[in-house]
Amino acid sequence: MQPLSFPPRLLMGPGPINCYPRVLTAMSTQLVGQYDPTMTSYMNEVMELYRRVFNTKNQQTFLIDGTSRAGIEAALVSCLEPGDKVLIPIFGRFGHLLAEIAERADAEVHTIEVPWGEVFDPQQIEDAIKKVRPKLLAIVQGDTSTTMFQPLEELGEICRAHDVLFYTDATASIGGNPLEVDAWKIDAVTVGLQKCLGGPSGSAPITLSDRFVSCVRKRAHVEAGIRDAHHQGSSGLRIRSNYFDLPMIMDYWGEERLNHHTEAATMLFGSRECAIQLLSEGQDAVIKRHQLAGNAMLQGVIEMGLQPFGNLKHKMSNVVGIHIPEQVNGEQVRHDLLNIFNIEIGTSFGPLKGKVWRIGTMGYNARQDAVLHTLQSLETVLRRTGFTLPSGDAVDAAMSVYAGEK
Ligand SMILES: Cc1ncc(COP(=O)(O)O)c(C=O)c1O
Repeated sequence: MQPLSFPPRLLMGPGPINCYPRVLTAMSTQLVGQYDPTMTSYMNEVMELYRRVFNTKNQQTFLIDGTSRAGIEAALVSCLEPGDKVLIPIFGRFGHLLAEIAERADAEVHTIEVPWGEVFDPQQIEDAIKKVRPKLLAIVQGDTSTTMFQPLEELGEICRAHDVLFYTDATASIGGNPLEVDAWKIDAVTVGLQKCLGGPSGSAPITLSDRFVSCVRKRAHVEAGIRDAHHQGSSGLRIRSNYFDLPMIMDYWGEERLNHHTEAATMLFGSRECAIQLLSEGQDAVIKRHQLAGNAMLQGVIEMGLQPFGNLKHKMSNVVGIHIPEQVNGEQVRHDLLNIFNIEIGTSFGPLKGKVWRIGTMGYNARQDAVLHTLQSLETVLRRTGFTLPSGDAVDAAMSVYAGEK
């Protein structure tokens, strides 16, 4: 039996990415009991840190234990009762995921779609809201499958005007792109750590507005076995998932500390460190770092003669899609990058599988050296497959971006 041993990969795909070293260090901290006052005070601190990450005053800001889709599932399953209408604008794979989760909750799911590589105009969404009259609008902010970034600024106002709750999945975008939960009037947001926040997957920070909380509180039921005389059952339909029952999870994170799951303490330590990394570097500075790295990668790719995917006006800062040239074996290129250069890049899903590569510049890896190594290695691998390209120009283009010349 050998200790764990992996090659020293540089993870330049669409996530997960290499963690900030401080996150890994924090995650090797010894445990205390889950109700130890030092543990509960760190839980409170994490709530406050993530209020700052989300730019919100929402009291109900905490962690769902599980990967990003655990957060999505908690939000949708707790809010949507069977037959409730939800409107889901889909512009990539993760919009389909929201629809799939809402369907499993037996909601009445209405979708609108734009071609992959595009995003919605707010008017299209308002028109659909007027037609469907949903309880909830659920939309992804940055869909990793297409690399596109949906502007959300105007949607909150539209939702309030039509008395609709507004949820977004910002897993892929948070940290590398702006997200103003209160200013944009978003009622529920869930994310993950494994992209621009620079942590591992396994914790899903969530924030809920008072409107969203009162919606899910209508369905609050305290589990038999921990129920006391003062716990009033609500009249609403019991939430179908015990693990993702938001009122029970809020009571666990709240003053009563009513027992629910056993907090995934090691993930909490990691989540805390991701937030501290972001806030101590400064949100604006981190967004700028992602924009710089993303732009350097984009200019390098263009200079290599490759064609970026989608409407670049709406690209997330932190990931670029690239059309795989017809004469090139895309999987062979990924294989050689991984096995010769120790660099991982991604392909995409569904209609883009095998047609598009995705290169991320996120979190710890939104760095000049990581961008340059990736471009240089991709150029070498492509050249050796027989693809003709201008030697060295990609790295020069990326360096010009970093020098402020492009
Ligand atoms: C936008 C978005 N939402 C949700 C997910 C699902 O995340 P997880 O695999 O952590 O459950 C991902 C993962 O890449 C994502 O990019």
